[in-house]
Amino acid sequence: MKEVIHNVFIIEREGREILATKSKYGSHYGERKIGEFREWIPSRSKLAAMILKGHIIDIKPDWKVLYLGAASGTTVSHLADIVDEGIIYAVEYSAKPFVKFLQLAEERRNIIPLLEDASTPWKYNGIVEKVDFVYQDIAQKNQIEIFFANIDMFLKDGGEGVIMVKARSIDSTAEPEVVFERVVEELGEKLEVIAHGSLEPFHKDHIYVHVRKTK
Ligand SMILES: C[S@@+](CC[C@H](N)C(=O)[O-])C[C@H]1O[C@@H](n2cnc3c(N)ncnc32)[C@H](O)[C@@H]1O
Repeated sequence: MKEVIHNVFIIEREGREILATKSKYGSHYGERKIGEFREWIPSRSKLAAMILKGHIIDIKPDWKVLYLGAASGTTVSHLADIVDEGIIYAVEYSAKPFVKFLQLAEERRNIIPLLEDASTPWKYNGIVEKVDFVYQDIAQKNQIEIFFANIDMFLKDGGEGVIMVKARSIDSTAEPEVVFERVVEELGEKLEVIAHGSLEPFHKDHIYVHVRKTK
């Protein structure tokens, strides 16, 4: 068993190595509970896929996080295991997944659920404070613009962010590689790009981009 970051472990199960978070909570989306661990399934969570692809961000237990595109909380549930002394402000604009997400937020004291549109961040400006980390996973054509707007408003100087990008949601006709090149270039105009890479084979035609806000 190896601890990758706070509360994130590679554990052995039936002769295979799997990713898991140490958690005092039960299963949220059908993932296996193995003793004190919850399996973190990379095909269900892009953050798990990124870590398993070898890109590890040292997320600290006391970090404040702004999470855009919470859906029903699959990834948020694991992130909440990691920032167990911190807080996650989690934005989702669709009422359907939000209902299940609310159940998670009710049992976890470190999740603040916000039924809001991430493209209008000024609407939650009075609730969300300055954060250490912005995570975005929304398949929208203008996702870069949304990411910039939230980073401008909420990310501390020197803070980090990750955006998960699906090529087809930005341009359904161009080759994914061309879209990704454009995205990384655009992000690099305003932010320091720390790393980027593919999420294959877990998520087809998706990349992660890890950035830092510099003054
Ligand atoms: C790919 S799913 C997110 C999955 C989730 N991040 C996870 O790993 O568990 C994308 C979510 O983003 C939400 N979304 C898309 N555009 C949004 C916006 N402008 N504001 C808030 N949520 C948005 C969708 O409703 C959907 O639930």
